[in-house]
Parts: sequence; structure tokens; C-alpha cells
Amino acid sequence: MQYRTFGRLDWRVSALGFGAMRLPVLGDEAKQIDAERATEMLHTAIDGGVNYVDTAYGYHGGKSEGFLGQALQGGYRQRVMLATKLPCWLVEKPDDFDRLLNEQLERLQVPQVDFYLFHALNGKAWPKLRDLKALDWAERAMADGRIGHLGFSFHDSLDVFQEIVDGYDGWTLAQIQYNYMDTDYQAGTQGLRYAAGKGLAVVVMEPIRGGMLARTPPAPILKLWDQAPVRRSPAEWALQWVWQQPEVSVVLSGMSTLEQVVENLSSAARSGPALLTVDDLALVDQVRDKYRELAPIPCTGCQYCLPCPSEVAIPRIFEFYNDAMMYNDLGPARLRYSWLKEEERASACEECGACEALCPQAIEIIEWLKKAGEVLGQQQ
Ligand SMILES: NC(=O)c1ccc[n+]([C@@H]2O[C@H](COP(=O)([O-])OP(=O)(O)OC[C@H]3O[C@@H](n4cnc5c(N)ncnc54)[C@H](OP(=O)(O)O)[C@@H]3O)[C@@H](O)[C@H]2O)c1
Ligand code: SF4
Ligand code: SF4
Repeated sequence: MQYRTFGRLDWRVSALGFGAMRLPVLGDEAKQIDAERATEMLHTAIDGGVNYVDTAYGYHGGKSEGFLGQALQGGYRQRVMLATKLPCWLVEKPDDFDRLLNEQLERLQVPQVDFYLFHALNGKAWPKLRDLKALDWAERAMADGRIGHLGFSFHDSLDVFQEIVDGYDGWTLAQIQYNYMDTDYQAGTQGLRYAAGKGLAVVVMEPIRGGMLARTPPAPILKLWDQAPVRRSPAEWALQWVWQQPEVSVVLSGMSTLEQVVENLSSAARSGPALLTVDDLALVDQVRDKYRELAPIPCTGCQYCLPCPSEVAIPRIFEFYNDAMMYNDLGPARLRYSWLKEEERASACEECGACEALCPQAIEIIEWLKKAGEVLGQQQ
């Protein structure tokens, strides 16, 4: 295992972190964690040098923390730093902070969690937490020993990210979505460097884009990978690209099989900011370009077409559809589409044409919405 610096802390983190969000389950129920297989995976990871474990209140329908509480018994807890997250969306009043943290500590069977993150901060959740004096509360919880260090995970635009980084001097870590496709998405490369430059440890989630860069790569992508002088799986290419960034502290992977744990441990052992050659990096650039070419709708996400009078979420629908086509994977796109409100879906379009007149890419929005709605609206 390779170990890397962790912001201002005098502690080195394993290059690979264990994300407890995609554990094997029995049947189709996310809540039914296959404890035997998942425990074997977790112990293999820790025995292989992993010293960072990430979970959250809501993972696996609320069962991930309880699973870890059990699986980290027998001395494993002492070998790792444990991170969990406050479900910001469940906080309505100041008393909720203590209630939720105490419940989490109980589930995890620990008196203290090493890293406590405000989960999925964005432009709406951050002001809400600030108004509820979340930072004052967190400082009290650090002082009384229930929280070791404070951080946040993030899903929004770069300017919101910078505002949050600058909004508190006491952050130890920031967790961002980052992979070779998302260099300009959400915090992106600029956010990564911004946070690291301010002394925060940057924890990376979705390094394989939730598995999309490895699950079923389309033939033109596989053809490109085949040109590489060093053979690597698509998963390893994605992970190594993230480890190549010196500002990254730890790369979380939500592994779902023991084989993936074993493969990712061996990738992590080879990892480092100088592993990929100039030619390797150029090949990754080609793969990124090829993926983008595979996106059928030339939507840039500029949002000039919004607001739609019927509230249709035009660019998000196009993003889901493009992702499904690019990554040859309908499942995640259909799931995200199902989370849209009824009025945000393609079927709510009344064909008024207002959006088409505003789109700088001259996209035939109405026709594409029909097609996307048909494909994404089907049951999985
Ligand atoms: N705070 C937040 O808002 C938030 C959001 C997302 C994630 N997270 C955290 O970050 C962690 C990492 O994110 P992620 O799970 O999305 O990471 P990821 O590594 O991008 O995706 C995980 C998926 O990649 C695939 N995979 C992993 N290793 C592989 C290998 N060696 N070969 C082939 N496929 C492989 C698996 O897909 P299959 O299961 O299809 O095989 C796995 O489920 C999560 O587990 C969670 O702890 C936090
Ligand atoms: S054409 Fe459809 S999507 Fe476009 S603005 Fe009108 S209702 Fe909204
Ligand atoms: S205006 Fe066109 S390019 Fe911009 S988000 Fe809307 S559909 Fe996409």
C-alpha cells in the first residue's frame, strides 16, 4: 500500500479508502447487506493496508453504519480512521445535530468518529446549516470528543465549493466527486487544487464514476485502451489517473466484490503521482474525448433554456441520456431520471418551443426530450 499526506494532519492515509456504499447485498434490497461477504471484503482491505473507511447515515438504507459497527470489531476499528456523515436534509432544528450524531455513534459502536462530514453540501444545504449554527455545534462536539475532525462532502458548482471552503477555517477535509471525465464538473480540478492549496485533505469519491468507467465500456473505448503498452483494466486506468494528481489524499472506492478489493489493492500498491507516462496521460485524454463524442445530444449544460414554463429539467434529462449512451449503461440514468419530480420529466413538455429559441447549440429540444423520456422512463 502507498500512503499519502492528509492535509494538515500529522497522519498518512492509504491511497485506497473503503467506501461502504456499494456492499454486496442478499437479493435486490440495499438494506440486506451480505454481512459475511462484506466483512471478508472489509477485512481484506484493512489487512492489505487500507486505513480509511467511509460511510454515511443513509447508505444501504441506513444499514451501512450498523454493519461497520459489527465488522470493525476484533481490533479492526483501531487500525482505521472512520468517517461518517451528517444527513443534512434530515436536520430541521438545532437539537437534531446531537440526536443524529449520537445515533450514528451507537450504530458504529464507537465513542468517537474520526471524521464527521456534512453530507452532500450544496448551495441550499450550506446556508441552512449555517443558520442553524452547525459549525458552533460541531466545535462543541469536537471539544467533547465525539468528533475528531470536521469536513464536508460536496455536489454543486465550483463557486459554491469555494464559498464553503472559505466559509470556515476549521475544515480538515473535503470530499469531492472526481475522475478523468469530471475534471470540469462540480468542484473539478480547480476545486481540488483550491482546497488542497488551503490545507484541506481532499478525499475523492466516484473515481470510476460510480462504476460507469468500468462496467461495460463501449467498443471504441476498449479499442483505445488496447493501444496502451502497459495493460490495465478500465477500472485501474480510472483509479491511477486520480492517484496521479498530487493534491488528492485518498481515493474511495465503493467496491462490491472481493475480486474488486483485491484488484484495487494491487493497483493502489503501484500508484503514485508519477506512475502514468506522458503517453499514458495522452491516451486518457483520447478516451475522454471519445466518450464525449459518444454523447448524442450536444448539450453543454449552459442552462440558457431554463426556466422552462412547465418546469422540465431539460439539461439534467439530456445529461442522464448522454451518460446512458456514452457509458453504455442505462441503469444509473434510469434511476436518476426516476428521482425527478413529475413536472421535471420529459412528459411534462408542452412543446411551446420557448427553449429551442434560446439554445445556443440549436438543439431540437422537443424531439430529444421525447426520445430521452421514452428511453429513460422505462422501468429497470
Ligand atoms: N458523500 C457523497 O455524496 C457520496 C457520493 C457517492 C459516493 N460516496 C462515497 O465514496 C465512495 C466511492 O464512490 P463510488 O462507490 O461511487 O466509487 P467508484 O469507485 O467510482 O464506483 C464504485 C463501483 O465501481 C465498480 N468497481 C470498483 N472497483 C472495480 C474494479 N476493480 N473492477 C471493476 N469495477 C470496479 C463497481 O461497480 P459494480 O458494482 O457495478 O461492479 C463499484 O460498485 C462510496 O462508496 C461512498 O463511500 C459519497
Ligand atoms: S418546449 Fe417543452 S421543454 Fe421547451 S420550454 Fe416549452 S414546455 Fe419547456
Ligand atoms: S440551452 Fe441548449 S445547450 Fe444549454 S442547457 Fe439548454 S439544451 Fe443544453
